Amino acid sequence: GQAMLRSNLVNPSETSEAERRSAAWFGLTGKLGFVHRSKMYNQGYSSSIFDGRPVIGICNSWSELAPCNAHLRQVAEAVKRGVLMAGGAPFEFPTISLGETLMRPSAMLFRNLMAMDVEETLRANPLDGVVLLGGCDKTVPAQLMGALSVDLPTIMVTGGPMLNGKFRGQDAGSGTHVWQFSEEVRAGRMSQADFAAAEACLSRSAGHCTTMGTASTMACITEALGLSLPGSAAIPAVDARRHNIAEQAGSRIVEMVNEQLSPSTILDRRSFENAIRVNAALGGSTNAVVHLLAIAGRAEVPLELADFDSLAAEVPLLVNLLPSGSYLMEDFAYAGGVPAVLRELGTILHTEARTVTGGSLGDNTATAENWNPDVVRPLANPLGAPGSNTAVLHGNLAPDGAVLKISAAAPELLRHTGTALVFDTIEEYHERADAPDLPVDASTVLVVRNAGPSGYPGMPEIGNLAIPKKLLDAGIRDMVRITDGRMSGTSYGTVVLHVAPESAIGGPLALLRSGDQVTLDVPARRIDMDVSDEELARRAEEGSTPAMAGPDGGYTWLYRQHVRQADTGADFDFLVGRRGHPVPRRHL
Ligand code: FES
Ligand code: MG
Repeated sequence: GQAMLRSNLVNPSETSEAERRSAAWFGLTGKLGFVHRSKMYNQGYSSSIFDGRPVIGICNSWSELAPCNAHLRQVAEAVKRGVLMAGGAPFEFPTISLGETLMRPSAMLFRNLMAMDVEETLRANPLDGVVLLGGCDKTVPAQLMGALSVDLPTIMVTGGPMLNGKFRGQDAGSGTHVWQFSEEVRAGRMSQADFAAAEACLSRSAGHCTTMGTASTMACITEALGLSLPGSAAIPAVDARRHNIAEQAGSRIVEMVNEQLSPSTILDRRSFENAIRVNAALGGSTNAVVHLLAIAGRAEVPLELADFDSLAAEVPLLVNLLPSGSYLMEDFAYAGGVPAVLRELGTILHTEARTVTGGSLGDNTATAENWNPDVVRPLANPLGAPGSNTAVLHGNLAPDGAVLKISAAAPELLRHTGTALVFDTIEEYHERADAPDLPVDASTVLVVRNAGPSGYPGMPEIGNLAIPKKLLDAGIRDMVRITDGRMSGTSYGTVVLHVAPESAIGGPLALLRSGDQVTLDVPARRIDMDVSDEELARRAEEGSTPAMAGPDGGYTWLYRQHVRQADTGADFDFLVGRRGHPVPRRHL
């Protein structure tokens, strides 16, 4: 690894730290400099673009197949304007993009692929700094992962949420209301026609999901990490200030290059502790756990699953957004967004943590105000008790851990023993869930396995299993559910997620059988099956459920060979860490 890396470098004496990286391309004389510059002239630039100014990549995940990111070409124009105003040379480039709603089997399967695309494109090109443009759930962590492994000066501009959904005079949120409406249809309380009419009403402008789902969570967390400009997460995609802040980010990245302010000089353990605490105050998505672990891995900052429980134990739920509360992102923006939350959290956070502004998190929020204390609750009037976000559970069902979002669960189910009903695939669950003779009552523990990183593959969001029809008809709205998959950040329910190790690689979840007693004890942070070690050993000997056969080639093969488990962020084993931005060997 290291030896090979070194042989790919130019002679270190040809380039020094103080010199711009882009000079190794555009600053050359002779044949090589000619070729690098000459082809760029076909885009109509004058020679001043190559006068040694900072070269800024605008890494754009624009795609019409990722509707949350479909407006990012316009955002890129504002970034370019800012780069030019500050004396830099902007070059926008595409990467693959990940649309949560369309990609199968799961956008998560491709997060690491997109991170590789971002990392390799940054390193291979004459860039001094980068502005990341992402929005939809997986695009933001993928870009951060790739960029942190490269460690050029980096700033993120997220695409912003859609305007609040409006259905029949009421606000309606992405995801959350879809799950609600679809249960209403199944229970016979909403017509198909009304359900169809809601489709366009939920997505009435450019932008990502309006609830505190994964996209909103990751945008806010990026701001809390100090990797985007203060106030940028919540501004709606179509608000003129989205372009204003994109322009500012374009100008700021040029200064960051001049200051050599790279992510490794911004991020440390304090940044990640802040992110975890802000996530708790937001009522953020359980997906933030997997993504932050992977991001920390790239930044070489130590972070573990247990941190999400222990660090957030003192932090109450402050942000009153669906699915844990009642408002939407547009309301959050008008209330003051993330700076208002940081201000309310005060010294619960490491206010001295560094940010892309060059100032500390505390400097950035010194003048922040909370304009709506019902949307952003003050510490004295929280929406949820301290420690109501992420519970990290262990037990003989999840030796390496599992997570449960307390604020999304029914309080009366947080300590619960019930009989397991086990499904080997989500398809099997879908086939049987509405059968009148399904052997379930309200106390049953529903289990779907083979939904982990390797098993599915791609750890899909299947965890919030629809309540079986006969229980739904009886008025049951929540049950204990367990999976080695994930659930959408917009969903709710008493769902044990991210069980590690997953069943498909031989985790004990594979040994659970229908009829076994399962006990969830959130106060004790336990998830156990009442099956003796001897019996488990006997079942293991008999052979557990065969995992689904995987492909023997292609990206999915690579993924299954190298994906790590959920408790460490489901990154590829060979991608963890920082590989920097040495100038690669020339080819001419
Ligand atoms: Fe893209 Fe929700 S589907 S953010
Ligand atoms: Mg989502």
